[in-house]
Amino acid sequence: MRIAVFGLGYVGLVTAACLAEWDHDVVGVDASAARRKALDAGELPFHEPGLADLVARHRAGGRLRFAADGEGDVVASALKEADAVVVAVGTHDGNGGWQTTTMLACLGQVVPAMRDDAVLVIRSTLPPEFVNRLRSVVAELRGTRRPISTVLNPEFTREGTAIADFLGPERVVIGIVDDADGSGERRARDLYAKVEAPILTMSAIDAGFSKLGANLFLATKISFANELARLCALYGADVGSVVEAMAFDARIGGAFLRPGVGFGGSCLPHQVTMTTEAAARSGVDIPLLAAVDAVNHRQRETFVELLALGLDGSLVGRRVALLGLSFKPDTDDLRDAPALTIARRLLTLGAQPVAYDPLAVTRDRAAALIEGLEVVESVDAAVEGADAIGLVTEWAEFSSIDWTVVKEAMRGRVVVDGRNALDVQRVLDAGLAYYGFGRRVVDQPPSVKSTAPEPAARNVQDVTDRIEVPA
Ligand code: UGA
Repeated sequence: MRIAVFGLGYVGLVTAACLAEWDHDVVGVDASAARRKALDAGELPFHEPGLADLVARHRAGGRLRFAADGEGDVVASALKEADAVVVAVGTHDGNGGWQTTTMLACLGQVVPAMRDDAVLVIRSTLPPEFVNRLRSVVAELRGTRRPISTVLNPEFTREGTAIADFLGPERVVIGIVDDADGSGERRARDLYAKVEAPILTMSAIDAGFSKLGANLFLATKISFANELARLCALYGADVGSVVEAMAFDARIGGAFLRPGVGFGGSCLPHQVTMTTEAAARSGVDIPLLAAVDAVNHRQRETFVELLALGLDGSLVGRRVALLGLSFKPDTDDLRDAPALTIARRLLTLGAQPVAYDPLAVTRDRAAALIEGLEVVESVDAAVEGADAIGLVTEWAEFSSIDWTVVKEAMRGRVVVDGRNALDVQRVLDAGLAYYGFGRRVVDQPPSVKSTAPEPAARNVQDVTDRIEVPA
């Protein structure tokens, strides 16, 4: 099929490259001429494992081309030739909310120019009320011409594993916005001809909610795991063993039950908050999701409290090494990253955070976002002279840290594991004190204050009241 993809961000660029991988002929269009130029020069606007190779291969093979909005002729002919037009423009307002201005502008550009028999595929995540308006928005833009077949095709890819998620989905969902003769659904299914997973057709609002529902449930699992970790700490249980046993129950499963600093990124936090606020505005009571949100925010604070606990309640003047800045490993995405909240809080409390992330671009962006945050180019530089270390993002390279070497370089000996990702014994064997989330720690060094078997949750509560706040 000939396909035009509008919007070359995290969703659109992955979609364009993966559709080319399935032998479709793809033109990717972005509003930014600079982005188009960079892509043609082989530079990606963000980090996604495997994407640069995929893009390079299909550009070289001719199945993937790029254009920018200003290049009227190229865009017009791509639109005229396309059997399917995929819209994947951003719907975030950059401030935790939704915006549909970009979507409306893009639809205004593509809908009037599409062939009558082409399908319009909306891939961006949309607020539910906009999904309900989509049919009339498209119809209005189409005017008196034959209505364009339109489907909503939510994406379920994760940053960091987006290519594998796209090429091997667990399901594909096609939500019918407008499709009088069924040709839209047929063409949308043709896009996914190589997929073996079930392809489900449903109404547009059901499709939109299948995406929202999945993300809200994942967020709920994580906040549940964080509550469970607190209970484990209270009673001296180990959350890792508890979840391992729970996961054998097919009704529960083990995924997304890892406690720590909680969920970040552009999807989960935003969708939980927006849904909760929208329900409140409509007078609908959804206390569970409000609690998911509250628990998630509390986790970042708990991380800082654990650092303070290890440092006898005072963070003033303490050098704290933060390992990992992005909201999860294998991405450069800092949107709603727990590390940013934590670094800001540490600065407010008079500490000096020194951060290391494997990606230079992420380090530079974080330094630009947070005045006073020091960023360094290696784990060694971060831990040098540190009073405490806080792991915020579980990048693979942190699992091979030699803690004995770290102990020598540090001034203090506190390690707070914000992802329950470290090998506890290796940290303890180096003579360091380990603080995690609901993990049992039996062999803390003798002089470490407030360690197991005292319940960590109670300790955190104690220390919350004792953190010294600079005047
Ligand atoms: C999420 C969904 O997982 C995707 O299915 C969806 O397509 C995407 O949003 C989207 O709406 O576009 P993503 O935001 O890339 O994907 O990240 P996740 O892998 O879901 O992780 C979200 C956050 O939860 C990360 O900060 C991660 O560290 C945290 N997390 C994850 C936990 O704290 N504990 C866990 O057990 C799992």
